[in-house]
Amino acid sequence: MTALNRKVKFAVIGCGHIGKRHAEMVTRNEESELVALIDVKDKPQLGIDAYPVPFFNSIDEFLATDIEVDVVNIASPNGFHAEQAMKCLEARKHIVVEKPMALNKKDAEKVIFKALQVHRQVFAVMQNRYSPPSVWIKELIESGKLGKIYMVQLNCYWNRDARYYKPESWHGKKDLDGGTLFTQFSHFIDIMYWLFGDITNIQGKFNDFNHQQLTDFEDSGFVSFDFVNGGMGALNYSTAVWNQNLESSMTIIAENGSVKIGGQYMDKVEVCNVKDYEMPELAPTNPGNDYGAYKGSAANHHYVIENVVGVLNGRETITTNALEGLKIVEIIERIYSI
Ligand SMILES: NC(=O)c1ccc[n+]([C@@H]2O[C@H](COP(=O)([O-])OP(=O)(O)OC[C@H]3O[C@@H](n4cnc5c(N)ncnc54)[C@H](O)[C@@H]3O)[C@@H](O)[C@H]2O)c1
Repeated sequence: MTALNRKVKFAVIGCGHIGKRHAEMVTRNEESELVALIDVKDKPQLGIDAYPVPFFNSIDEFLATDIEVDVVNIASPNGFHAEQAMKCLEARKHIVVEKPMALNKKDAEKVIFKALQVHRQVFAVMQNRYSPPSVWIKELIESGKLGKIYMVQLNCYWNRDARYYKPESWHGKKDLDGGTLFTQFSHFIDIMYWLFGDITNIQGKFNDFNHQQLTDFEDSGFVSFDFVNGGMGALNYSTAVWNQNLESSMTIIAENGSVKIGGQYMDKVEVCNVKDYEMPELAPTNPGNDYGAYKGSAANHHYVIENVVGVLNGRETITTNALEGLKIVEIIERIYSI
């Protein structure tokens, strides 16, 4: 792809917590420009006065204007991602789709098929891949120094209670949220897939300990599986933890050593004990996205915008492409269908 030789023009759909981060990161990037914001709520409710661009209440209204736009960033509730992605692609726009790309494999496939048909790019958002411990462990695994992977355990124990699942919110609704693995823990499933590849022979059990009045789905699960490339893994997760997040960690037991990455959003290497290897000093990880009482995943969205601008100017390849976005949706769908 050749360079655009001008700023990349972005619109953002969904101006909540994360949509505002997209707007801010687009505004801060010297090679990009925000041209419109879209949200079903009225503008005064959204706290977006810092962005003096045209505002629309629907994607259709926006796409019917002659405002020039290259990329639409979709940061609406999960259940709208696929439908809005299809509309933007149909209008020949590139898209950045917040996680998850869709709530089922069939919809994610439709988005990819449409993107191929209209020859536009789909960027999935998995910004935890940019955190220093993620970059480091990816390199370590690809170097082969760990040898064969025996066991991988992901523990994701977070607090999400009535302060988060408000009755008016899309969170907790099956059709808009999709479930705990889609909304809370898809980043960790993405990291696991990125490092170790696909999983098979999935077994598990789910429970709803304290979310009966708050969500339409389980709050906890123990899931175990084999990696297609060898070794076995487990994903233990819960949003039923009292008061505050407890941990997000990944423990790797391999032929030549063991590694544990922990912290609230896998931001710290806690153990690295690997044969003939000395752990380098890593840069600090950006703090988590702030949700009032909650911490979410790392605040790395500026890398996502940099990647879009780099790709559209022909300098880079996509960090998280649509096929990977689809794969995470498909893995979660398979876990939920056991
Ligand atoms: N990458 C990450 O780390 C990360 C973190 C949190 C959330 N997310 C994702 O970002 C998306 C938004 O999450 P959030 O926490 O910002 O939610 P939010 O509730 O704070 O914001 C969602 C916004 O979308 C608007 N909206 C609802 N329906 C719409 C529609 N049909 N068209 C346009 N706008 C609509 C709402 O009015 C609201 O302003 C979700 O898909 C979520 O999974 C990603």
